[in-house]
Amino acid sequence: MIQKIEAIGYDIEIGSLLNSSFSNVLEKYSNSKKIILVDENTHDHCLEYLLTAFSGLEDAEVMMLPCGEENKVMEVCFQVWEAWSEYQIGRNDLVINLGGGVVTDIGGFMASIFKRGLDFIQIPTSLLAMVDASVGGKTGIDLGRYKNQLGVFSNPINVFVDPGFLSTLPFNELKNGYAEMLKHALISGKLHWESLKDIDFSDREKMHELICQSIEIKNQIVNLDPFEKNVRKKLNFGHTFGHAFEGFFIGEEEFLSHGHAVAIGILAESFISWKRNILSESDFIEISEVILKNFELPNIENSWIDPIFQLMLNDKKNFEQQVKCVLLSDIGESVINQTLDLDDLKLVVEFFSTLKV
Ligand SMILES: NC(=O)c1ccc[n+]([C@@H]2O[C@H](COP(=O)([O-])OP(=O)(O)OC[C@H]3O[C@@H](n4cnc5c(N)ncnc54)[C@H](O)[C@@H]3O)[C@@H](O)[C@H]2O)c1
Repeated sequence: MIQKIEAIGYDIEIGSLLNSSFSNVLEKYSNSKKIILVDENTHDHCLEYLLTAFSGLEDAEVMMLPCGEENKVMEVCFQVWEAWSEYQIGRNDLVINLGGGVVTDIGGFMASIFKRGLDFIQIPTSLLAMVDASVGGKTGIDLGRYKNQLGVFSNPINVFVDPGFLSTLPFNELKNGYAEMLKHALISGKLHWESLKDIDFSDREKMHELICQSIEIKNQIVNLDPFEKNVRKKLNFGHTFGHAFEGFFIGEEEFLSHGHAVAIGILAESFISWKRNILSESDFIEISEVILKNFELPNIENSWIDPIFQLMLNDKKNFEQQVKCVLLSDIGESVINQTLDLDDLKLVVEFFSTLKV
């Protein structure tokens, strides 16, 4: 069974790719060149299924990108765009992004920019990309340690979410997707939070249901405000601190994945919400228990506070020269456009250090 969710201008189909309209889409592009973008892991774990189960991909050009956030950068785009020029890829051709959020973000970006825009399909293969990165039309790349500084809003022609791909995803990557699912619950409703709190990743049927709910939440918010002028900002809950922590560790020996950083950001922004008396103590404790049960806190040294704050100063949500974030007023209720300063970051780092002893 395929569940179909209507986004603005495209459909998100959830269920086995074999039962989806993927074959029909390929047929429409039968006279076009096709590029399949993968990274090293989705090349090994996901590509063969696509190539053997579907006709119309025999002549597809498979391009493998290096794994990891540090490769979501312009240098990689230049290499790919040059290759596309060599293959004479044109406006009627199709890009298929088969991978986690890094592949869907950079692949969507490259397709949107090349020759003013090629059609692209998102086939997310990580939990995080299924519930978040492939949905909502944000594509982009990082600029040094600054996350997603270059990018465009650009919708794919389809998103195909096949939870079957999760069978090869490492457990810690499932956890990363879980962080974004928790975020969706915390900004949208207590009911979803209750069903997520004690997740069992091995219960496939339940996972399918939770994935659908998470996508539904994100899609509904995006449909109200596709260009993030207002209500869509709440999807950034956990991301002001999260992006700064993630960016700080890019290229360092100790690596902090996006999902893990968002989980820590959720803890930080819930903590500030409680400290400002916006969120009740009991809700804060409940949220922190779920986060700390599932995610380890990184060591954040005091000497890192200034560089981390520098990263926060460049956050895309900022305006009036102030760092802006989303806070929680309840489990399921958020408030956007809240100001943060250096003292808030110091408070969070101090709070984290009390949890580490
Ligand atoms: N555009 C958006 O709206 C949006 C939203 C949230 C996150 N993001 C972006 O998403 C990125 C994070 O995505 P991610 O967590 O998927 O990271 P990722 O793409 O790096 O994938 C995580 C790891 O899992 C591997 N992998 C993916 N699918 C696999 C599979 N089926 N089997 C085995 N291994 C597999 C990847 O190769 C990688 O090593 C960040 O860059 C973040 O900024 C974008």
